[in-house]
Amino acid sequence: MSEIRKVGVIGCGLMGRGIAQVSAASGYPTVVREVNDGLLEAGLGAIRKQLDRGVEKGKLEAADRDATLERLSGTVSLEDLTDCDIIVEAIVEDIEVKKDLFGALDRQCPDGTIFASNTSSLTVTEIAASTNRPDRFVGLHFFNPVPVMKLVEVVRTGATSSATFDRAFAFARSLGKVPIACMDNSGFVVNRLLVPYMLDAIRAYEEGIGSIEDIDTGMKLGCGYPMGPFILGDFVGLDTLYFIAEIMFEEYREKRFAPPPLLKRMYLAGYHGRKTGKGFYDYSGEEPVVSKFVTK
Ligand code: CAA
Ligand code: NAD
Repeated sequence: MSEIRKVGVIGCGLMGRGIAQVSAASGYPTVVREVNDGLLEAGLGAIRKQLDRGVEKGKLEAADRDATLERLSGTVSLEDLTDCDIIVEAIVEDIEVKKDLFGALDRQCPDGTIFASNTSSLTVTEIAASTNRPDRFVGLHFFNPVPVMKLVEVVRTGATSSATFDRAFAFARSLGKVPIACMDNSGFVVNRLLVPYMLDAIRAYEEGIGSIEDIDTGMKLGCGYPMGPFILGDFVGLDTLYFIAEIMFEEYREKRFAPPPLLKRMYLAGYHGRKTGKGFYDYSGEEPVVSKFVTK
């Protein structure tokens, strides 16, 4: 099994920044690519803040923070990822955008480079088909927040070679994660179960079964979940949740995967959750309060 010496991450949003942080912290020289300098600086700034917080809390040595940051570099140029041994993509959940990206990477990268997508709901088979290396293509599905969540779903398609799967699996383990093996299907294991639950919570609210706060409290205290479904939706991003629901509904044609009308309206109105400061909850004050948009 050839060694992974350098890691590329594409996208420095919610997920990409976490993957890049964990990769650099695990000892890999890591380069992360964004579409422009402003977004790149925002992502790298969030990583620095996260590491500084670890030092302040006494959970991380200052020297380890500095070494992590030294291994991490940012770029807006795709060419800077050409010498990476594995490239993990974490950009918008849109098949055409992902296909364009991997088509370009396939033309510029050496044969040995493994491609991985962090997609939540697209099939890896479809994304891999935009390249000439479907045998060297896997899904590496991380969970939000990446530095905290231990799971990585390692996804093999019918075309993924065993050597590639084994390398990707070992790579996930080397990041301190617990990998599980999944065959390629829309949503893999976790989202296949989690997404209908989150969508059903919205439908329960639409049907007047309970308030947003009560449904959240119910699932937290009744099931011991760390977050209720609405806080979790805001945390994932309601734009991303909407894209995921559209994709899973298209795949399975079952109502439980369909985006509820309220989710669609919130997406269209720019209520994308924590990342925009408002979703089911408004995050502008000290404590989140239920957003007026959903109670009107
Ligand atoms: N990034 C990095 N670290 C974070 C973080 C973030 N955004 N938010 C919290 N943390 C860290 C904190 O620094 C803290 O670390 P230490 O213990 O080392 O100090 C730890 O997480 C706990 O944080 P808090 O005490 O502030 O808060 P908490 O106890 O409420 O935990 C949480 C926060 C870990 C996010 C917890 O609420 C949780 O597990 N929520 C559920 C998350 C979840 O279900 N994620 C999956 C989403 S679905 C998905 O990812 C798949 C998809 O395709 C959509
Ligand atoms: P996000 O919107 O926070 O970040 C996506 C980033 O990708 C943006 O900053 C955007 O500028 C950047 N981007 C878009 N096109 C790019 C390109 N060609 N090159 C470089 N950067 C580009 O989204 P996110 O929540 O980080 O989700 C990213 C991917 O991870 C999606 O496929 C999503 O389904 C998946 N995912 C999300 C979660 C979650 O909880 N949010 C969890 C697991 C997987």
